Amino acid sequence: MELVVNGSRRRIQSDPERPLLYVLREELDLTGTKYGCGEGQCRACTVLLDGTPVRSCITPVSKAQGKQVTTIEGLEQNGKLHPVQEAFIKADAMQCGYCTPGMILSAAGLLHKTPHPDETEIKHAMQGNICRCGTYPRIIQAVRMAAGKGIAHA
Ligand code: FES
Ligand code: FES
Repeated sequence: MELVVNGSRRRIQSDPERPLLYVLREELDLTGTKYGCGEGQCRACTVLLDGTPVRSCITPVSKAQGKQVTTIEGLEQNGKLHPVQEAFIKADAMQCGYCTPGMILSAAGLLHKTPHPDETEIKHAMQGNICRCGTYPRIIQAVRMAAGKGIAHA
């Protein structure tokens, strides 16, 4: 099977039903995609398929065929961080950082579809992403910054 991951064609040997998360981490060494619950409940494993966030722990790798897979390693363009990545750094929107790749990809997916979301749309898009450190106010602030919606401290 062949996948397009972060703009590069990659050959993989996996069973088509194997979750995309394990293929990314174990076959392609893209360990920025995190294992949280493994059952679709935390979104630590979020990646983009054609710009849409998916939970890679419950997405068979076969579903990624023919689509552009974007992981946190591939979000920057030409050495420049994605605006959501920059905003997370500016807002200091992390503690342990374990949820951060999934948070950033969920936010990037939201901005891909809705470039100027309001606060309700941001909260709705991010509500399934769990942060065990409770950094939610700064995460929402970062997404607002990336969306050009204000930079007030939460
Ligand atoms: S690891 Fe995928 S949703 Fe928790
Ligand atoms: S920063 Fe630790 S889980 Fe979110």
